[in-house]
Amino acid sequence: MLAYLNGRFLSRSAAQVSVEDRGFIFGDGVYEVWRVVNGRLFEAERHVDRLAFGLRELRIARPDLVSVSGITDVAEHLLRESGLSSSGSEATLYVQVTRGAAPRSHQFPPATTEPTVYATVNPFNPPEKLRSSGAACITIPDIRWSRCDIKTIQLLPNVLAKQEAVEAGALDALLIRDGVVTEGSHANMMAVVRGEIRTHPADNRILPGITRTVVLELARKAGIVTREIAVPEAELATVDELFLVGTTTDVMPLVRVNGRTIGSGAPGPITQRLAREFREYLDAACSAASAAR
Ligand code: PDD
Repeated sequence: MLAYLNGRFLSRSAAQVSVEDRGFIFGDGVYEVWRVVNGRLFEAERHVDRLAFGLRELRIARPDLVSVSGITDVAEHLLRESGLSSSGSEATLYVQVTRGAAPRSHQFPPATTEPTVYATVNPFNPPEKLRSSGAACITIPDIRWSRCDIKTIQLLPNVLAKQEAVEAGALDALLIRDGVVTEGSHANMMAVVRGEIRTHPADNRILPGITRTVVLELARKAGIVTREIAVPEAELATVDELFLVGTTTDVMPLVRVNGRTIGSGAPGPITQRLAREFREYLDAACSAASAAR
């Protein structure tokens, strides 16, 4: 598989970064993941904007690549060379920017230090089978910092949460802070209560997911009331429907939490409708006819 590293295209196995890279030493960097369908980036601009926001918040110089045209050019080359740009292909694009390589010291390195920019693509198989049956999840304490709105590469709490879920035979873990669900390990969570959608507000405690935004827009267009208020853990067992939303998740029904059945135990009607509408929107946005740039 091909990679992009600091202005060059090379095989992923040949791509190397310094052991002094601050991403490696401190987790000092940000990343983005785009969904790619038919070789086209979904919501290119919103992901670029979120990456630029993270760079600004961490005061990492914005590399030229971080623009819609810069990312699209690199993505097109990676996708073409990796055989992932044809009609019907599904892929993800990963981009990571760190503060660069410099001798280890906590303070920022000299301003002349170039950020490290890495990008790669991977084939993607949407989890359709699980979507039709619905998935299980567990709840665990949210031990993350208070800037979860920045998509940093520091993902240890997320890694531990997902591992605990896998070891419990579940798809994911819902993170609990102050008695409410914030989000999943790598997706946002939504609940349906008496026909209305509830999801944690886009504050510093969650990543403002692009899929979350799109699904809320689709729901409103369908006349479904949406409320950005958190769901208490204590109310999880009595919500009508529950689902995850994310770039590598789409809309994923959750039918069990900590072994207890949600709703009827099968994907609910609003979840199924939004999953269908999301897929249609994704396909239309990435259709050959749509101008991606
Ligand atoms: N994760 N919340 C967290 C903590 C995430 O890491 C992600 C995405 C989301 C969903 O955001 P979006 O809809 O923009 O993908 C929510 C990516 C996919 C990952 O880490 O692989």
